[in-house]
Amino acid sequence: MQQNLKPNRPKIITTEIEGLVFNRRMNIAHAIEALLSKEFVLVDDFYSTGLQILEELNFYLKQKFSKKDYNSQREARSVFRELSHKLLLMVSDNRLEVRKSPKIGWLKILYPEISEFFISFPDVQGLNSSWQWFQNGIKLDILPFRLKPYFGTYFPTRFDHLELFENWLKTYNGTKKNAIDIGVGSGVLSFQMLQNGFQNIYGTDSNPNSIIGLTQEVERLKFGNKFNLSCGDLFASLDFATELIVFNPPWLIANHELEEGIDKAIYYEPDLFPRFFEQAKNHLAKDGKIVMIFSNFAKVVGQEVKNPINVELGNFNRFRRVEFFQKKPKPSSKKTRRKDWRQNEKVELWVLSHK
Ligand SMILES: C[S@@+](CC[C@H](N)C(=O)[O-])C[C@H]1O[C@@H](n2cnc3c(N)ncnc32)[C@H](O)[C@@H]1O
Repeated sequence: MQQNLKPNRPKIITTEIEGLVFNRRMNIAHAIEALLSKEFVLVDDFYSTGLQILEELNFYLKQKFSKKDYNSQREARSVFRELSHKLLLMVSDNRLEVRKSPKIGWLKILYPEISEFFISFPDVQGLNSSWQWFQNGIKLDILPFRLKPYFGTYFPTRFDHLELFENWLKTYNGTKKNAIDIGVGSGVLSFQMLQNGFQNIYGTDSNPNSIIGLTQEVERLKFGNKFNLSCGDLFASLDFATELIVFNPPWLIANHELEEGIDKAIYYEPDLFPRFFEQAKNHLAKDGKIVMIFSNFAKVVGQEVKNPINVELGNFNRFRRVEFFQKKPKPSSKKTRRKDWRQNEKVELWVLSHK
């Protein structure tokens, strides 16, 4: 791994701030008013006070944005996101200052050099839930160990596409020496390739958190000698061809300027696929295969966009489709089902080769 990679981490405030210092003996309406006027509100007593303020803000905005379609709900989330980030907590010596707050290891790991700062409440919630995932790991049916995603790294929460890939790997009878995993994330596809007999994995990701975290993880799992990980765009500095290239790209086209980190795992800029295919041409061995995982999710959420893999196959003379599999995802659990936009979704596995 490249040395000196710096992880993406939530923005913090290290200077003095002006705003409302709030505790639960005060009227919560004052906190909401201050947030709506885009002033800072610093929670001064209990962690739960911050939770209450966020709940109240959410309730207020739900009434304001009552339309249920995907775009209105997205706008509501974006306003909530902006205002809720004005709600702050103080950190001293890598711990939250408020009482009855969770212990979050990331505060020390990600900010080793800063002892006192303010951080937004939603960012603390993000750090906290990421810490829980990281500590507990994620149990997947297809892997014998738990996946431990580093802060700010994409990890799978639905598994149908992993099953498609596992089934495909079981039937793959080509050479298994080297594979490239573009956008390696928390490494799940690479681990699947390893357990199906591949000897060397070259993983890249544009998100440094993925590379930092996965480097630690493969050492812990004693797979270090099988992985070569690099942070960079697409094929980064890899300059050779392999028999298998896998890419589980973002599935939605971006209508906003992309932020670093998870945003780039979910949304793609229009040039991502053309650039990938152009570079893949030189990185795929003569009889090699490209496996791409995709989904019709963009269509499901109302994006009017052509499937970028079909666009490549239709417009260029570089690759041909060798195999194609589709799977209807299992319905999400009742608990997580919002409005079930996903009921028409199908995950896809594409296998391409040189033309
Ligand atoms: C949908 S996630 C898939 C992660 C992992 N392969 C998996 O299947 O769970 C897409 C990944 O691609 C990475 N990514 C997005 N754009 C990239 C680019 N231009 N170059 C390299 N990696 C990229 C993201 O950071 C993210 O880790």
